Formats: sequence, structure tokens, C-alpha cells
Amino acid sequence: MALSIQPTGHVCGARVTGLDLTTSLDDTTVAALRDAWLEHHVLVFPGQPIDDDDLERFARYFGPFGHDPFFGPIPGREHIAAIRRDADETSPLFAENFHSDWSFQERPPQGTVLRSVVTPPSGGDTLFADQHAAYAAMPSVLRERIDGLRAIHSAKLPYSKEGTYGEADRSARSMDIRPSDEALAEFVHPLVLEHPETGRRGVFSTLGYIIGIEGMAPEEAIPLLKEVYDWQTREEVIYRHVWEPDMLVLWDNRSVLHAATGGYEGHDRLLHRTTIGAA
Ligand code: SIN
Repeated sequence: MALSIQPTGHVCGARVTGLDLTTSLDDTTVAALRDAWLEHHVLVFPGQPIDDDDLERFARYFGPFGHDPFFGPIPGREHIAAIRRDADETSPLFAENFHSDWSFQERPPQGTVLRSVVTPPSGGDTLFADQHAAYAAMPSVLRERIDGLRAIHSAKLPYSKEGTYGEADRSARSMDIRPSDEALAEFVHPLVLEHPETGRRGVFSTLGYIIGIEGMAPEEAIPLLKEVYDWQTREEVIYRHVWEPDMLVLWDNRSVLHAATGGYEGHDRLLHRTTIGAA
């Protein structure tokens, strides 16, 4: 089987075939995958009937395991969380807002890996928004306004005890989300990030995990972040990923935002997720 990396034909993403992810990969293959990951930001591996050992081994090719503060891990694993929604669940969809995983950490994760475990017959696509393309598409006056700004990140809106996924949400949700006071921490990152490996500029994370801009009054910062959000999530910067059984997806949190979608009411959906920590 020869390694093949085929761009999706959308703004980002490539489909990778010719590999068996139930076995170890050699260094040359891992280097080729890293290059492809940096170029396409989202890599899709169809037809991979892998288990959780394979998932963990794959993630470790790209960096250390990340720290997942607000998810309980699946039984027997420290670094895998279940992104789960049961057929009869009525709680608001998890992760429906665009975000970059755990951008509110002091050292946010480089990437995330998801593997499909139970795929609904339709719906449950994941949207990826290319933040290099979004930045490039903005009017230059807007780029000039945001270059050099430092964004304040926090998990308090989703993961504090009073947050969207807080104590009141827990009983109705199948996913093991664990809100805590750790969500109140704040860390600052450049709003426009120069990718540490490619040097490409892009907007890093978005309103929701970003709660303000350093040195700017909220009355100015929030409307500016909303204006940026509109550019970050325009149709032309989005790749809609459709899940299949036995599929693995790897993305670069430094280059893309992502968001879950619904449309599979009456069906279970389950993915296993591992984050790739900062290098
Ligand atoms: C996530 O944000 O990790 C979940 C994405 C999805 O459920 O499609």
C-alpha cells in the first residue's frame, strides 16, 4: 500500500490512505504525515478499524498527551475522552460553537485526534474553519486592528460550575463533563498567531474561549471579537467533515477552529478523543 494524501478540494483537509494504523508507523511516514498535517491542517484517515491503543500510539507520533481538565476519561484510560451523545438525549449539543481545543490553557494543545466509534446514519458532521484563510480574507484595515493584540482566554463560560456545561447541565448529559474552578483561570495569547512550525499567520481561537482583549474595554473588545468571528467562520473558510465508521481525524488547533453539528436525533454518536499537548 502506497501512502496517498489527497486534498479534500475544500479550503483545508486531506484524505490519507495507504496506511494501516493498527500497526506502528516508521519515522519517514510520520515525517510525511506531519508535513501533510501542517499543509492541510486536517487529516482524515478512512477505513481504519483501530482500537484505543492504536489511537494513543497515533497521537504520540505528533507530541505528548495533552491535559484534558474538564472531561472524565473513559474507563481504563487516562488520555481518552468520549465525545458522546445518546439517541434520546435532549441537552444542547456539545461543542456546537466554533473553538480551538483548550485554548484557555497556559500552553494550549497542538492538535486533537478523534476516532469514530458509533457513527449515526447521517448528520453529526464536524466543521473546520481555516484560520489562515480567514485572516488572509479579512480587509487589511481589520488585520491592522488585530495584529499585535493579546486575547484573554478562559474556560469560565463553558466549564465553570455555573457555565454552559456546569453543574445544572450534568444530569441530562451522557458525556462525562466535569466543571470545576480550574475554569476560572485566565491566560493571554496573541490574537493573531504566527504558527510555531510554519510561520503562517492566522487568528487563534475565538469568542467564547476568548473573553476579552488585554488593555481594551469590554465595550470595544467584544464587538471587535464579534466582527473577527464573522470573518473566522465565513462559508468559504469552512470544510465540512462527514464521518464514516472506522475513521480517524487529526487536526491542528493552531490553524483551524472546529464545531460539532447535529441532525442525528434518535441515533447514538460516539467518538474517542485524545489531545496532543504543546511540544
Ligand atoms: C470536539 O469539539 O471535540 C467535538 C467535535 C464533534 O463532536 O464533532
